[in-house]
Amino acid sequence: MEQSQLVTLLNEMSLEEKIGQMLQVTGMFFEEEGIVTGPENIAGYTEDEIRQAGSMLGTVGAERLKKIQKEYMEKQPHHIPLIFMSDIINGFRTIFPIPLAQGCSFHPELVEEGAAIAAKESAAAGLHLTFSPMADLVRDARWGRVMESTGEDPFLNGCLAKAMVKGYQGTDGLKAKGKIAACIKHFAGYGAPTAGRDYHTVELSQRTLQDDYLPAYKEAVDAGAAMVMTSFNTLDRIPSSGNRKLMREILRKEMGFNGVVISDWAAIEELVCHGVAKDQKEAAKLALEAGVDIDMMTSCYCKSLKELVEAGAVSELLIDEAVLRILNLKNELGLFENPYKDGDVSDENALILCREHREAARRMAAETFVLLKNDKMLPLAKKEKVAFIGPYVLSRETYGAWSMFGTCEATVSLEDGVRKKGALEIFTAKGCDLPEDIRETGAREELLQEAVALAGKADKVVLALGEHRMWSGEAASRGEITLPDCQMELFRQVQAVNPNVAVVLYCGRPLDIREISEKSAAVLVVWMPGTEGGNAVADVLYGDTNPSGKLSMSFPYCVGQAPVFYGQLCTGRPFQEGSQEKYVSRYIDIPNKPLYPFGYGLSYTEFTVSPVELSGKQMSKGEQIKASVMVKNTGTRKGQEVVQMYLGDVCGSVARPRRELKGFRKVCLEPGEEREVCFEIREEMLRFHDINMDYVSETGEFKVWIGNSSDTENEAAFLLIE
Ligand code: BGC
Repeated sequence: MEQSQLVTLLNEMSLEEKIGQMLQVTGMFFEEEGIVTGPENIAGYTEDEIRQAGSMLGTVGAERLKKIQKEYMEKQPHHIPLIFMSDIINGFRTIFPIPLAQGCSFHPELVEEGAAIAAKESAAAGLHLTFSPMADLVRDARWGRVMESTGEDPFLNGCLAKAMVKGYQGTDGLKAKGKIAACIKHFAGYGAPTAGRDYHTVELSQRTLQDDYLPAYKEAVDAGAAMVMTSFNTLDRIPSSGNRKLMREILRKEMGFNGVVISDWAAIEELVCHGVAKDQKEAAKLALEAGVDIDMMTSCYCKSLKELVEAGAVSELLIDEAVLRILNLKNELGLFENPYKDGDVSDENALILCREHREAARRMAAETFVLLKNDKMLPLAKKEKVAFIGPYVLSRETYGAWSMFGTCEATVSLEDGVRKKGALEIFTAKGCDLPEDIRETGAREELLQEAVALAGKADKVVLALGEHRMWSGEAASRGEITLPDCQMELFRQVQAVNPNVAVVLYCGRPLDIREISEKSAAVLVVWMPGTEGGNAVADVLYGDTNPSGKLSMSFPYCVGQAPVFYGQLCTGRPFQEGSQEKYVSRYIDIPNKPLYPFGYGLSYTEFTVSPVELSGKQMSKGEQIKASVMVKNTGTRKGQEVVQMYLGDVCGSVARPRRELKGFRKVCLEPGEEREVCFEIREEMLRFHDINMDYVSETGEFKVWIGNSSDTENEAAFLLIE
């Protein structure tokens, strides 16, 4: 449709019809027998209100969605199609590793490929839009939703959010076959809840918000994401869904976003709980004026907007503006011509979990694993007698908290994976249970004894431990970030009879693994690796794939450090590790440094990075400096290394992070091979919000580090001059 036709359509619509477009409901109201409203209808929608809704979430399946669309459009006065949305976070049916793990790949092309596959599968199942990427910066491992982010670094998050948008949406417009629209969330600052408790208050200074938290959303906006979702939290004590400055000034004006803004689930009504609106009606007014176009799953808009307009309390123009944006999105998706888009049962059958998709999931998974420690323990040899012990040897629940459409039946367990490797002798034992309910112990004496006996007979033990997948994700914050007691008991008893223990850690967040890290011979973090997890873990354990992941989020020494991240400020009393000085910024009982920092990760081979060479010692604005190193594979296996460049501003008008990631490259080297890795340093990379909140760079001294972790000391310096 032409833009003018959309405006004509809008002008023909009644006020009720327009308000209907601004409501999103779940698919649970649509059943064989028509619209059903049972006890789940907590919003108290009338059948008519549901009938008017402009979009639907959480329901999939080409056949089902076609049926709903057809019926709905027949009754909709202007035959306007619904948009079908859902949370396709790390894959649709072929499940990829969780986003936090994807961050560890430091491999945007791979992340883009994963998103493209998720788009293909879900488009075939009738979907039009996914609520992804989550571009929230995360630094507190207590928060359960760190698993949905790509980590603690603004630059890495920006690169990967952009890659996901490209993967979902492609570059040929949203109508293109196999593409779906992307929705950036949760705007803004949701990743910084106080004390890591979900939905809690967010306190961020304007500068931290601007310099650290907003850049990744901005990258995704620039990549053309069609939609933005508000966040549940307050920022500066104003809840996002009623935050006019955030949505209209920052998002729309400063960032230039002109797509649709949707509230998070029930977030408009929650303005009442936040205490900024006295009732639903006031909440509706606040949200509309803030620029929220779609009300997800409350009745604030559908029950109040009409009255508000008729009373002259809100302008109908605001409604028109919102509805036009929604119609525009429907038009961009091509729904007026083809309301089912790519929904097609035979495509669905052909694409979902097809070999190509599984292979991609397996490849990606192996690149997200992070080898934290390896005392000549891994890889395993096929002639070794290995006991695979732990609840994750058999468990297929390895697809993460958000994989609504992933299934155990489709998932490869670790046992399935290692059995295919053709090793001479392997044994397996569960060791203990892994209940979904964190309050249950999971301990069983007979399982423990069986495991210890097997461990005693083996050359090596692989202990597959971790959190249940539902211990991270939404509403899954944890105050303790340790492994359950029964798993620690299993670890201790197994380790006592056989010290050759490699721990394979399944988790949705960085955990406190001090004891494991100290006593085991190897630690491999595999996060929630998805459908092909078992094969990918086996590939890495047996050395068919060399691990190359780097932490996207620091592993704290213990929970008391949270939030801990590499990009902290210096403070006025910086602490030198190892110093005994008292009146400096430090703990008296634990170190300041995390156990394993951002960017860290080992390989089965070794790499050296030569001292940093700069093409010049100073540059003025508009010029560039080339920073380069020689990277060499000095080991005996082919492997990939993530070369990382960090910049640090020695003295600015405001305190600056010690260092910030500004570039990375993943290089693959044969044994003995050496390659130059070059980065450009440009003036824009040195910008930040200065003392006047202007986004500028300041002349003076800068440091540059290039290495294979955020704590590299491979340093050089240069000057930025006028
Ligand atoms: C979550 C969002 C999600 C939405 C729809 C909310 O509870 O915060 O991330 O997209 O539900 O499922």
